[in-house]
Amino acid sequence: MDAPILDYMQRYRFKGLHLCNDTDTGLRAVIAIHSTALGPATGGVRMWTYDSERDAIMDALRLARGMTYKYAAAGVNLGGGKAVIIGDPATGKSEALLRAFGRMIDHLGGEYQTGEDVGTTLDDMETIFTETDHVVTLPEHCGGVGDIAPATALGSVEALRACAERAWGSPDLNGRTVALQGLGAVGSHALPLLLDAGAKVIVTDIDPRRIEAHSAAHGVEAVPAGDVYDLDVDIFAPYALGGVINDDTVPRLRARVVAGSANNIFAEPHHATELERRGIVYAVDYIANSGGTILDTDRYRKGGLQRERAMRNVRRIGDRIREVFALADREQISYLEAADRLAEERIAALSGIQLI
Ligand code: NAI
Repeated sequence: MDAPILDYMQRYRFKGLHLCNDTDTGLRAVIAIHSTALGPATGGVRMWTYDSERDAIMDALRLARGMTYKYAAAGVNLGGGKAVIIGDPATGKSEALLRAFGRMIDHLGGEYQTGEDVGTTLDDMETIFTETDHVVTLPEHCGGVGDIAPATALGSVEALRACAERAWGSPDLNGRTVALQGLGAVGSHALPLLLDAGAKVIVTDIDPRRIEAHSAAHGVEAVPAGDVYDLDVDIFAPYALGGVINDDTVPRLRARVVAGSANNIFAEPHHATELERRGIVYAVDYIANSGGTILDTDRYRKGGLQRERAMRNVRRIGDRIREVFALADREQISYLEAADRLAEERIAALSGIQLI
């Protein structure tokens, strides 16, 4: 039987859970607050058709806890939160519903700040923003930073360099071969960065139009999506979806480094251990892809948004990855465990709160 929700919240030290209903607009939503130790609980709002209310609540709780770790490990002073709106984003979304959700957030008085996630867009954030100031990702005309993908790409390449340094003793990418999976918002910005660094890049995407556009523009080789795991390259760079490191792909990988922007690249945690066992160096996803978040949330720092400061912090992502390696070596733990521990240590040092 599934454990009771309050037991789960007690075990992982959640601060709160808000169930929101607005009968007039049909809004049914969950707002989960994991931690406000470093700042307001922050995390996007997901719109999805869940099989049950329990699934929706558990999704919000798990994702909120993940955000606490992500911000803490990335050096961003925000807490972890997440919201879900239960419904089909293609058919169930309306201005009235989003604004009702905005009012719910506003009632929390800043304890939770929202942003885009699966099923919600920047336009939706603008709609929610009409009812509450507590929205992080916003278009430039609303005071936000606009497109964060270039910053995410830059941070991920810094992470990749740190991994290269661990694998080969130098962060220099000149002459390294890279298999880049996914030429979307982030991957398409990472490609020129890698080429400028002197790497030889082979690209893939499931969308042939993206392959055509980018391989022609940059003169790079492309392979069908299913072949990318078998390439004889130094670095595998995942910029598509999660779960790509799994039972099928681990034995096929020939790269010594796995680093990109994709979230949750491991199908199961043991796949991370398996990479380490094989001597493959990987960048922990939530640190490697934190560049966009660092830029996005700079306006909460002293003096408001300063792009130069934000980009300097994005470039420090490589150092955070190095800290993970150092802690993993010292404590003889996996990179994933080391990243979580760094986040916990940072929260304990700054707030005195022990997460576990
Ligand atoms: P996107 O949706 O713009 O691009 C993903 C690309 O991957 C698309 O071109 C898609 O066709 C391709 N793709 C999907 N499945 C594939 C497969 N099996 N093989 C090859 N290509 C495949 O997404 P975006 O924004 O570029 O994000 C990429 C990854 O980075 C995602 O995992 C996302 O969660 C993560 N991320 C993105 C951030 C951002 O700033 N956009 C921030 C943090 C994480």
